[in-house]
Amino acid sequence: MPASVTVTETQQAPVVQIVNDLPLDTQIENLIRGTDKINITRAKNTKVSFETGADKTGLELLPESTRKRLEADGIDVSKGYPEVPDRSKIPIFVDQAHAIRDSDVPFVDRGKNADPEKKALFGAATEVINLTKNVGTEIVGLQLEDLTDQQKDELALLIAERVVVFFRDQKLSPTAQHKLGDYLGNIEVHAQVPQVPGLPGTSVIWVDYQTKKGMELNFANSNLSNWDSTRYLNVGNQGWHTDLVHERQPAGYTHLHLDAIPSVGSDTIWASGYGAYDKLSDELKKFLDGKETVYVSAHQYLDRDDPFGGPKRIERVHPLVRTHPATGWKFLYVNRGMTKRIVGLSPVESDIILNYLFDVYEKNADLQVRFKWTNTKQGYGTSAIWDNRVSQHRNVWDHEGAEPRHGTRVTSLAEKPFFDPESKSQRESLGLYLHKWD
Ligand code: SIN
Repeated sequence: MPASVTVTETQQAPVVQIVNDLPLDTQIENLIRGTDKINITRAKNTKVSFETGADKTGLELLPESTRKRLEADGIDVSKGYPEVPDRSKIPIFVDQAHAIRDSDVPFVDRGKNADPEKKALFGAATEVINLTKNVGTEIVGLQLEDLTDQQKDELALLIAERVVVFFRDQKLSPTAQHKLGDYLGNIEVHAQVPQVPGLPGTSVIWVDYQTKKGMELNFANSNLSNWDSTRYLNVGNQGWHTDLVHERQPAGYTHLHLDAIPSVGSDTIWASGYGAYDKLSDELKKFLDGKETVYVSAHQYLDRDDPFGGPKRIERVHPLVRTHPATGWKFLYVNRGMTKRIVGLSPVESDIILNYLFDVYEKNADLQVRFKWTNTKQGYGTSAIWDNRVSQHRNVWDHEGAEPRHGTRVTSLAEKPFFDPESKSQRESLGLYLHKWD
């Protein structure tokens, strides 16, 4: 307990006595860190309150297949599962959260110099199945854990082109998943989300646990289409989103491995940002090329200068249309939950245009793939690796938690977003039909 503040626990709430004249922000920080009565994990779905440290209560829910996978990897869950960073390490103020990754970090896209024909990867697979014309490929007959560097580079390029690539029937330890993420970019270590114990950067995707911790998710409020989550509370991974758009170098290759999979339901859908851009008219493309947009974090923090003014999110400005470093194609970089405004436009203009762009992304089924995670082998898991730069995704929580679902996700951060005015769109580059409006 810091010397400046005395907290007396009562039945209702801690009583706080300020015993010296430290600055207000320091006192607030000390108070929050000093009592576990105050929720320090400030997700949008504010009813969720995670323990910090390893959580014993999580063990009651842990699916057997997950436990086996963790134990086979030597992960110690005896103290609890999952693990949330220690209270002393979680940012309280938005400036602290903003400072976590605020300088340039080298990144080379592994797909950039890969063989465009992907002979090493495709040659070793027993089957390569395009699940839709524009988005999503499934690779059969390969174990991610065994890929050579050449195959990983080709995989990176394939993901960059196809948006998302799937591998069923994988024996993949969290450590091996982490290693692959490390190869594909700079692994994001989140300041407060639940992680695999001892393996920071391996986030736990476990809605069953979130609901146990207070998230009110049900048939009525899940999967609400066109939900404006910048204005209203949303829950879980149900709404269309792109991960970590507020980062200085936002998410690139992102790998979710499910080790507990419902027998039916809880699919995930991805949509292509290349395709969303190509749905626009030339005139609208010209207007948007070169524009910048303000992006916000999913998690919220306090403003040091206005601590009682309500939670604030981290903000960063990036190009609205980006160029992919490996494919060279332009893509639309917006999502309904975390794109706040277009720089230089009035709020009304910005809202109208952004809402149209969200709709294009969310409503065109020919830019989307819906994936069923089911395995064919017991004791194995399924992996999806997507490029968060060029996509949005959402989970469809239609199984309503009736069967366990658990996964681990490793997100590799990529380059600082850029727009190359000389770059082409995907369809332009591939010589595919593009409509000319007169
Ligand atoms: C996510 O939003 O990263 C997870 C998607 C899912 O649970 O299917």
